[in-house]
Amino acid sequence: MDCHFDSCPDRRNTESVKWDLFPGTLPLWVADMDFKAAPPIREALQKRLDHGIFGYELVPDSYFQAISNWFASRHGWTGIARENIIPTTGVIAAYSASIKAFTRPGDKVIVQTPCYNCFFPAIRNNGCETLENPLVYEDGKYRMDYEDLEAKAAQASVLLLCNPQNPVGRVWTREELLKVADICHRHNVFVVSDEIHCELTFPGHSYTPWATLPEEYVKNSTSCISPTKAFNIAGIQIANVFAHDSEVYAKVDRAINQNECCDVNVFGVAALKAAYNESGPWLDALLEYLWDNARTVYCFMEDLIPGMSAPPIEGTYLMWLDCRCAMRPGEPLEGFSERFAKHLQEKHGLTLSAGTLYGAAGEGFERLNLACPRTTLLDALSRLKEGVESYRNSII
Ligand SMILES: Cc1ncc(COP(=O)(O)O)c(C=O)c1O
Repeated sequence: MDCHFDSCPDRRNTESVKWDLFPGTLPLWVADMDFKAAPPIREALQKRLDHGIFGYELVPDSYFQAISNWFASRHGWTGIARENIIPTTGVIAAYSASIKAFTRPGDKVIVQTPCYNCFFPAIRNNGCETLENPLVYEDGKYRMDYEDLEAKAAQASVLLLCNPQNPVGRVWTREELLKVADICHRHNVFVVSDEIHCELTFPGHSYTPWATLPEEYVKNSTSCISPTKAFNIAGIQIANVFAHDSEVYAKVDRAINQNECCDVNVFGVAALKAAYNESGPWLDALLEYLWDNARTVYCFMEDLIPGMSAPPIEGTYLMWLDCRCAMRPGEPLEGFSERFAKHLQEKHGLTLSAGTLYGAAGEGFERLNLACPRTTLLDALSRLKEGVESYRNSII
């Protein structure tokens, strides 16, 4: 299978959010990849295109079968049936409908910060309030704060979990998830597990689907899944809500209808089937390439950017850089992430995502997207190195 991750098409002037929003800069920010999708996906889309008619489409049994087979064989999550899956237009739509179904305006929804930035507006748009359960950064690693979660769970209706976690790159273990599940179960908190990054895990770490926890925990949850992140087809917009319980299914189905996001894209159906049925080998090759990219960043920082570090990346292709070494003497931490991101963009033509986009807990960090050819990554790292030096030496 052709897996050419070193050479990619030029995406400039293609209406790409990543490349065309900040023209003239090297964009390692928004989470899509610069690689062409797997050949089976491109062939399936071409075939669908050649049909020439793009009317409303029924979602066929083969779509649900592809999901069921993939998660059973790849992740040991067995027994997914058509009756458990609600297709929708994206993972944001999936978790937003799940929140809507299990909250009333004014309710509190827990997120573990720093967390995916679009969690915050989804909570607000459902008339709810965000309750932060900040992750703890200790000895260069992130862990959950269960004591704080317990206190927050006593006040909340929903936990919006990110499994694996964007942006800190943790792949939660079964033990960690069981502790979360126990707390939520005792406080009757509904769990919405965003698992969009589930395919993207690195050696030594494997994804635990929330739905493979004991049934008493799974009953009161939904899992939001999609092939779009790992197979680089985010613009095609397709995702699914998994609900184990038929009453949960009915409530989320209703919310998806109320939000008018129940009709999926004909290309999404074709792409999902080709991804799950035929693109596993491409994904394996991608993961090797991304892992080499991650190691490139660690080596570069160690050799050439003294003081910069990143927690061990266990999954996702998003590197969470602790950039506090760039701070000027006496500079306050508050606002640093944004100032440094602006400096990198304006003076060195490098666009990263400021850590505070993911909540105040992201102060001091920047998020770097690894999913690009190695030459692009090395170019970005050189700019980052120069950026650290020029920022540190600049006058406040
Ligand atoms: C954790 C997480 N959830 C959801 C999304 C967006 O999903 P979609 O484009 O399917 O709505 C992203 C995109 O980066 C993400 O990182």
